[in-house]
Amino acid sequence: MTFEEKSKPSICLSKGRYFDFPYPHYVFEDFLPSDFLDALCDDITSGRLLDGAETVMGGRRRIIFDSIGSEYLKKNSTDWFYFINLVRSRTFVHNLLDLFSCASDFYKPNFSWSELKIDEKIPKVKNANGARWVRILNRVRNHVEAIIMPPVVTVEVDISLAGKGYRREIHHDSNSRIIAGVFYLNSPQGMVGGTFDIHSLARRPASGLFDPQPKTTDCIFVKSIKPARNTLVLFLSTPDSYHSVPEILEAPEERIFVYFAVTLQKKNAWKHQGKNW
Ligand SMILES: [Fe+2]
Repeated sequence: MTFEEKSKPSICLSKGRYFDFPYPHYVFEDFLPSDFLDALCDDITSGRLLDGAETVMGGRRRIIFDSIGSEYLKKNSTDWFYFINLVRSRTFVHNLLDLFSCASDFYKPNFSWSELKIDEKIPKVKNANGARWVRILNRVRNHVEAIIMPPVVTVEVDISLAGKGYRREIHHDSNSRIIAGVFYLNSPQGMVGGTFDIHSLARRPASGLFDPQPKTTDCIFVKSIKPARNTLVLFLSTPDSYHSVPEILEAPEERIFVYFAVTLQKKNAWKHQGKNW
């Protein structure tokens, strides 16, 4: 019997520690009930779930929760399907927005926090190979909708296993993100590298342009968060929310994690001068 049939486990956002430097972020411990977390980990370590995953970024096996990924999860793990839908639910997103709406005075959003509409629809698989005129038409339609429609957010999610070779350079996430989260399900023993590192810029750019991938020499290392079982790192995905993952050099055990992002549809989330944002 699955957890979905037995009882509906809840998500705990009460044990968080808040940090405002260098950008607003939280670290939550004991995010999920322990037995539910065990059930999720079992479905990964038994090898059933990540069989169909793509490998990206050096050593990360990933399943994106889109129309194909959701069908796959539904068929292979009702617990995972339930959990991902919980993360994408209106209630959870409202809680996330509440956590950050007061912490963001420094930044200028392209939306009003109170007007955001949360869309729970599962995203369709993106088709980048359509005819040129279809892509141009879509771009025009998106542009018009961004002006006349109320701002809509969805939650984009993937389930990943990070192993030897996985790394992320210093970067900020894509320009449509409002809040991003990395949930670590296990404490990978013997792993070298693979931490969540937080950086600030040595100097704020006078132009107001925040480079998506600044040079290491232009950044100051602030701190490193070690992936640990049942820990969620949440951050406001602002133009200066720089983070990185040092290359995983040793990984006797892979790191299981979920990345999710509250994403503004149709337009950039933050006012920012310059083409790169
Ligand atoms: Fe990132």
